[in-house]
Parts: sequence; structure tokens; C-alpha cells
Amino acid sequence: MKRGSQALEVSGRRVFVRVDANVPLDGERIRDDTRLRAVAPTLADLRARGARLVVASHLGRPKGQADPALSLAPVAERLSELLGCAVALAPDSVGPTVEARARRLADGDVLLLENLRFHPGEEHNDSSHAAALARLADLYVNDAFGTAHRAHASTVGVAQLLPAAAGPLMHAEVQALDRLTRNPTRPYVAVLGGAKVSDKIGVLRRLATQVDALLLGGGIANTFVANAGGALGRSLVEPGQGETVGAVRAAAAASGCRVLLPEDAVAAALIDPDAATTVVPADGVPDDQMALDIGPTATTAYLEVLAEAQSVVWNGPLGVYEYAPFARGTLAVARALAESSAFVVIAGGDALAAVQAAGVADRMGHLSTGGGATLEFLEGRELPGLAALPEA
Ligand code: 3PG
Repeated sequence: MKRGSQALEVSGRRVFVRVDANVPLDGERIRDDTRLRAVAPTLADLRARGARLVVASHLGRPKGQADPALSLAPVAERLSELLGCAVALAPDSVGPTVEARARRLADGDVLLLENLRFHPGEEHNDSSHAAALARLADLYVNDAFGTAHRAHASTVGVAQLLPAAAGPLMHAEVQALDRLTRNPTRPYVAVLGGAKVSDKIGVLRRLATQVDALLLGGGIANTFVANAGGALGRSLVEPGQGETVGAVRAAAAASGCRVLLPEDAVAAALIDPDAATTVVPADGVPDDQMALDIGPTATTAYLEVLAEAQSVVWNGPLGVYEYAPFARGTLAVARALAESSAFVVIAGGDALAAVQAAGVADRMGHLSTGGGATLEFLEGRELPGLAALPEA
């Protein structure tokens, strides 16, 4: 059965397609085009069906002001390569000139609007701004899962003004994450790393009630170890998180979830690609050192748990994986997941970069294009961009 944007009659109609082209940039070079590659089939399908595309995205956080460093010009260029057709960049996202450009589109043409966030009305979901965006098209398709947790003019306001539908990427994301949250095949294991507990309080607490094992790494693990009285030297430890750590542990204990912390750590005095490293107990890091990766014993223990898993979600690296001396734990997990028969969801940019660095991205069940959106979905929160679509 056709659903979402695939059920829309698009031939000869102007379709406003909200995508998440918020890609990491080095100057004008796109460092990782995963999000563009993920949405390109949606745009290609709409074009092939005769739609006239008005494609819209934000890039970065320009806070309502035009900023040439955050122009979507590099995105227009890359999309044009991926689609094999011209992708014209409009000078703005709203206004008479852009409206005239949108009216002149022929079937299959693609017009990319300039960064939506150059206008304050976008993030405020201002109704007159949403109306100005809606004037550019006849139909609305939201395929920006990565931005579904934002209630902005382009994700909520326009959806209320035009016939609206979810795109295929939105569907695929929701389906994959639903499979984990509703009825995961067990054992269900979550691997959570990254710098801060406070960034992930909601998802930690929620996952502790859902998964069979929670494997922790990075600054999050350090903070848990420090709260249990461990010595962490100069490691990244987030102060004031005792209550959260206690709540996560209590939620896990009540639902029979094992919380695994690293037994050992790779430590160094400097975060440097040539740093001299030693393996130390994770709760006995020398005063002048930092824990920068999980150690070999911890890696073995984590891989044993993952070998039994049937469902896995991974968010956040287990160490400073950008530098070879501290990448072993993260890369070992990536490779183990590639070998695993579990349904694996890679959630968030760093875990994605890690599976790409390990050369195993194509062997994962689902690579989520969302960062915050994926975490909020896993946390069980309603995503406004999703809720604004009729089939939600
Ligand atoms: C993301 O990269 O997570 C999305 O594009 C949303 O970006 P934002 O956090 O700036 O709203």
C-alpha cells in the first residue's frame, strides 16, 4: 500500500520538501554527506513522478540572521551531484523573488531555499512566516526526521497550512526506532557513550527501564564511576550528577537491567595522537592522567554482552575515537556489531562516524539520521514535526 508522500498526486504540483541538510562543514566542504544521501532517493522519486520541488532545510544555528558561512550553497552543489540534475539555490527562503522562482518551476525542477534559520520566524514558528513558506508550494512533505523534535515554521506551521505527508525517510526512521521501543527482540542492549550524563538524562532513565543491559563508556561512564567513589584523575567527570546516576541505577535495578561500567581504561596525560598510554583500573586513574578509552578487559566484557544481543542501540563513542590510541574500544564495538545477527540501530553522529571509520556502516540494521530527534524518540517523547503529520 502506498502511504505518506508516495500516496500524494504530485505530478505538475509544487511540493515543499522539508529535509534535514544540517551537515557538518569544514568551511565550504561537506565533511559528512550521510543526511543528503539518505534523503536523495525521496527527492529523486518525487522528481520522477513529475513534482516541482521546493526543498528546504536549516544549517547550523544562525539565530534568525543571514550568515554567509551557513549558506546552503555547498548543499545545493552536493544534491545536484546526487540527483544528477541542476539544483538551483534561491537567494532566500521567503519573499516575492523566491515566490516568483517557485512559480516558474517546471515538472522535475529542484529549487533549494536558502537556510530557513536566516529568519527568526522559522524557530518561533511564527504564523505569518509559516504562511510565507506555504505560499511557495501546493503540497508539503516532511522527510526531516533529524529536525522532527523542533516545533518550527517549516516542521509544524507549514504542515498545518498545506496538504501534508511524511516522506519515506521519516517512515523508515520511525519504523526502525519503533521496532526497538515497542517490541524489541531480546536481549536488548544499549551502548551509550559521549561526554555528558546531563545531555542524555532522559534517554538513560528510559533505556534503563527497557533494555536488558546498558553498556556505558566515555565521560558518562567516568561520571558513574566517580559517583561510586572511584578515582578518576584528570578525566572528564561531570559534577552534580549524583542524583541522576542514582535514578538511573534505581530504574535499572527495578527492571532487571544490568548497568555495565568499564573495569579498566586506557589512560594518558594528554589528548594527543602520539600520547603515551597505559591501561589502568577505571576507578584508579592516576592523578595526572585521564581515562580516554575503555580498556581491553572492559572491551572483552562488552563484546561478550553484545554477542548475545538480539537488538542493539548505540549512541555516543566510548572514548576519544578521533585519535588512534583511544579508538580501540569504540572500533571494537563497531566491528562486533557488524558481525552480530542483532538488529542494530546506530543513533547519532559520533556512533555513525565510528562505524564509518571502522568501514562497517553498511552492515548495520539502521543508521539513524537524527541526533537529538532520535534520543527524544527513544526517550518516548512526542516529536512535534511528526505529530503535525496526518498519519502520525
Ligand atoms: C540536528 O543536527 O540534530 C538537527 O538538524 C537539529 O538541529 P538543531 O539541534 O540545531 O535544532
